[in-house]
Amino acid sequence: MGQDEYIHHHSFSITKEHRQALHGHKSLILWFTGLSGSGKSTIANMVEGKLHEKGISTYILDGDNLRNGLNEDLGFSSEDRKENIRRIGEVAKIFVDSGIVVLATFISPYISDREDVRKKVKQGEFLEIYVKCPLEACEKRDPKGLYKKARIGEITHFTGISSPYEEPVNPEIIIETSQYSIEECARQIMNFLKDNGHLGDGNI
Ligand code: ADX
Repeated sequence: MGQDEYIHHHSFSITKEHRQALHGHKSLILWFTGLSGSGKSTIANMVEGKLHEKGISTYILDGDNLRNGLNEDLGFSSEDRKENIRRIGEVAKIFVDSGIVVLATFISPYISDREDVRKKVKQGEFLEIYVKCPLEACEKRDPKGLYKKARIGEITHFTGISSPYEEPVNPEIIIETSQYSIEECARQIMNFLKDNGHLGDGNI
C-alpha cells in the first residue's frame, strides 16, 4: 500500500519550516491517551484555549468526532482501532507539516499503535500525554452512560471492561485527573511546553 512503483513523491517549494516561520512557532502533536471518561477532550479543550490566546495555531482531532466522519467505517476491534489510529496519525502528520499544533484525543489503547504515530514525525514533534484516571473513577463519572451499557453487555469490546488499555511506558507528560482540577491539569501541560521550549522560545 502506498508503494506503487507508478507513484512518485513530489517535493514542493514551501516547506514545514517556512510555514512554521509564518505561524511564528513550532508545530507538533500533543497526543492525549487514556480511558473513556478520563478527561482527554475536556483538558485538550482547555489547553487549546490557552494556546489560542497566546496566538498559537491549533486544531483538535477527537475520537468521537472523527468516528462520525473520516473513520465512520471503523468499529472497536483491535484491527479497527489500529486503522483508526493509523489514519489519525497520517492526518496529524499533515497538520504538523502545515505548521499547526495538533491536539489528538483518542483512547488509543495499544502501545504499538501510539508508537507507530510517534515514528511518523521527527523527534520532539510527538508528545504523549497520559491522561491517567482509575477505571473506577471513569466508570463513576460515566458521562455518556457507556460504562453502564458495557457492564450489561450492550456494548462489546469496551476499553477497560471487555477490551484492554495498555498504559504508556514512558510518556512525556502524566496528568492525574482524579487528583487535580481540569484547570490545574491544563496548567501542568502548558508549563511543560514552556519549560521545554516545545513551541519555540518566547511563545508561551
Ligand atoms: S480508540 O480506541 O480507537 O482510540 P476512539 O478514541 O477513537 O477509540 O473512540 C472512543 C470513543 O468512542 C469513546 O469516548 C466512546 O464515546 C465511544 N465508544 C463507543 N464504543 C466504544 C468501545 N467499545 N470502546 C471504547 N469506546 C467506545
